[in-house]
Amino acid sequence: MRLMREVRCFPDDNVETAHMLNTWAGPVSNAKLATFWIIRAFVDGPVDEQTGYLCDIKRLDAILHGVVVRRLLEQETGCRNEASAAATALLESFPLAAERCSAPGSLQSLELKVSPFMSFTVYRGDRRMVRLTRSFEFCASHRLYCRDFSDQENRRIFGKCSNPHGHGHNYVLEVTVSGTPDELSGTVVDPPHLDRVVKERVIDPFDHKNLNVECAEFSSLNPSVENIARVIWNRLEGALERCRLTSVRVWETPKTYAEYTGRQEGQTRSVL
Ligand code: NI
Repeated sequence: MRLMREVRCFPDDNVETAHMLNTWAGPVSNAKLATFWIIRAFVDGPVDEQTGYLCDIKRLDAILHGVVVRRLLEQETGCRNEASAAATALLESFPLAAERCSAPGSLQSLELKVSPFMSFTVYRGDRRMVRLTRSFEFCASHRLYCRDFSDQENRRIFGKCSNPHGHGHNYVLEVTVSGTPDELSGTVVDPPHLDRVVKERVIDPFDHKNLNVECAEFSSLNPSVENIARVIWNRLEGALERCRLTSVRVWETPKTYAEYTGRQEGQTRSVL
């Protein structure tokens, strides 16, 4: 069983959860409206037969505020590279947060969302590794089509997605990389570097393009969302400095995504 709990706060937040008027949206900050954190704890374990709890979420909230938020606040003061500082603080707060997370549940990972489009994650068992996930969007048209099939077969297999004139999607791309803190600079992963590489290698070549016609890989490869994820992986792998490509997730619609981790068996597809 896995339980996820998140707290929402501003970095200057010193409001105890018990006194918060709106725990859904988090407290209203008078000082720093530009920064808002969402911190998620993922706890695995058996469910207690008597209480029905995997863990006490009030205790979890106290750990997230008392350990993780506190560490993030310490790190933020006077630091030039705030993204790396936040990632390092998350990494450093994990052991104490894990220790305080009471049995039978055990803390498996902590995620810090610094915006809806960027998050850091640290995992149990990988104490020096931080994952950075950034999201991007591109609009593109495609036609699902296999040149080895007849037009009739293409229509039968791909239906309206094989319309000869194509159709479009607003794709959302989530790229995850992992890295360890640099001894000298403290940099873990560099979001601007990731943005630059993804823009140059994926967004600029794909955005507002007909994938079948204008992207070389799809001249003979069917541009399904699965193949788009693999092609993006291949375009990014090896181009990133000081970090390792971990996963490429492509949302074709809000109901469907394909995720590629460099391994064939790593592909998944939403069935909702
Ligand atoms: Ni489509």
